[in-house]
Amino acid sequence: MKKLFATAAVALAANLVGYAQVTNITIDGANPKTTISRHIYGHFSEHLGRCIYDGFWVADSMNVPKKDRIRLDIVDALKKIKVPNLRWPGGCFADEYHWRDGIGPRNQRPRMVNTNWGGVSEDNSFGTHEFLELCTLLQCEPYIAGNVGSGTVEEMAKWVEYLNSDASSTMTELRKQNGREKPWRVKFWGVGNESWGCGGNMTPDYYAGEYKRYATYARNYRDAPLLRIASGANVADYNWTDVLMKNAGNQMWGLTLHHYTLPTGNWRKKGSATAFEETEYFNTMKNCLFMEELVTRHSTIMDKYDPEKKVALVVDEWGIWTDVEPGTNPGFLYQQNSLRDALIAGTTLNIFNNHSDRVRMANLAQTINVLQALILTKGNQILLTPTYHVFDMYKVHQDAKLLPVNFNSPDYINGDKKIPAVNISASLDSAGAVHISLVNLEPNKKIPIRTLLPGIKWKTVQGQVLTAKKLTDVNSFENPGNIKIASFNTAKKDGEYLVVELPAQSVVVLELK
Ligand code: AHR
Repeated sequence: MKKLFATAAVALAANLVGYAQVTNITIDGANPKTTISRHIYGHFSEHLGRCIYDGFWVADSMNVPKKDRIRLDIVDALKKIKVPNLRWPGGCFADEYHWRDGIGPRNQRPRMVNTNWGGVSEDNSFGTHEFLELCTLLQCEPYIAGNVGSGTVEEMAKWVEYLNSDASSTMTELRKQNGREKPWRVKFWGVGNESWGCGGNMTPDYYAGEYKRYATYARNYRDAPLLRIASGANVADYNWTDVLMKNAGNQMWGLTLHHYTLPTGNWRKKGSATAFEETEYFNTMKNCLFMEELVTRHSTIMDKYDPEKKVALVVDEWGIWTDVEPGTNPGFLYQQNSLRDALIAGTTLNIFNNHSDRVRMANLAQTINVLQALILTKGNQILLTPTYHVFDMYKVHQDAKLLPVNFNSPDYINGDKKIPAVNISASLDSAGAVHISLVNLEPNKKIPIRTLLPGIKWKTVQGQVLTAKKLTDVNSFENPGNIKIASFNTAKKDGEYLVVELPAQSVVVLELK
């Protein structure tokens, strides 16, 4: 290897002229083992603000392509990025949701107040059948969060029977009466949400007991084994993970973790989505990178009880959470999405890929018009956010084999603080192509890198880049294509080396064949 570096040092003179320091990277292609589950690229849609209503599900009168009341322009956009699973109906809403209110003739469904999100009236026109029709159109797996906080064991048990049983029973007859003959065979099943908070304010010991009771009666029906997911820790509550793994680790498919990136770190004044200076950007990225420590430390605790890594760490809520857009309902969590959001998405997905031995599912919050959205809507217009484009670029990692990456990142320094400027993940797909996703968090500097890939034979490299002039740049309804994917043609093969000059504040995905 030393010899290769020496050779390249000469050849590189032509490609990376003028750089005092070049970052050396090794991507180990020798023996890839771990698969990056496509479910890491999952999404979340809650009955919150304009995610479901006026997002996926619109008025009959709206002049857009629709199936029933589901917007097909949105479905098409999400199919393009291969959404693998969709979590529903919450969030906090899940623990107040009674599924029987959302079946049967729509004009007879009970109405409720959405106490968590703006106190608005919920007409239950979007319920179980509508959600599962949406998942069918998206060709993704449904991930349903059941109600533990205000529900009953019986209510959850019957919902699973209604969804998944093909035997004759009152529940399955009701499903048929409502228009669905065959069971849906839903696999991913959340047993409550944030049970330490809006899901019932429980202690970990109490919830572990509840989890086992609810999970026991959420039955496996013929050809429909459930993958039961327990409500996990709030950010760095490592005790929660310890207690759950100790008491119920052998009865769950997954255990969740929630972490939101707050620009200021202060829930009372989180910071604007679009108006921020470099120091606030730096702090935001530092808070985002905390995911690396969280995933590592929760995984280490899980390893204690589950050294074979059977239980998945499911990060089913993540993303940036800012102040709402001025003039919008504070309970609707509507925020714009800038280049900064794209850098957060790219960085977080790199962290998940690199921990895919334990992180086997994740869900960005939330798909449309809420928090770090993929899509924003205004009447019959839609726009794709910078975050959407990152999921588009990264879809190549879905179900590919993880290739370990070794390197020391240069620092991005702000005042007396520093964070790694570059983060990377790499994978090998079933056709033999290698994909490398690189994020440069430095807003002011290009970063030259040269990479060796022992164990990989490749001849060509091509790539895509997402960047903008300013970190605060957004796509707007007036200028929806302001930030979009461009081809990246400056990566080169130089002997055995891949040589790249990574643009400032950018996400780059390379394909080597
Ligand atoms: O995603 C918004 C909310 O954040 C969810 O409802 C809740 O689970 C979390 O606190």
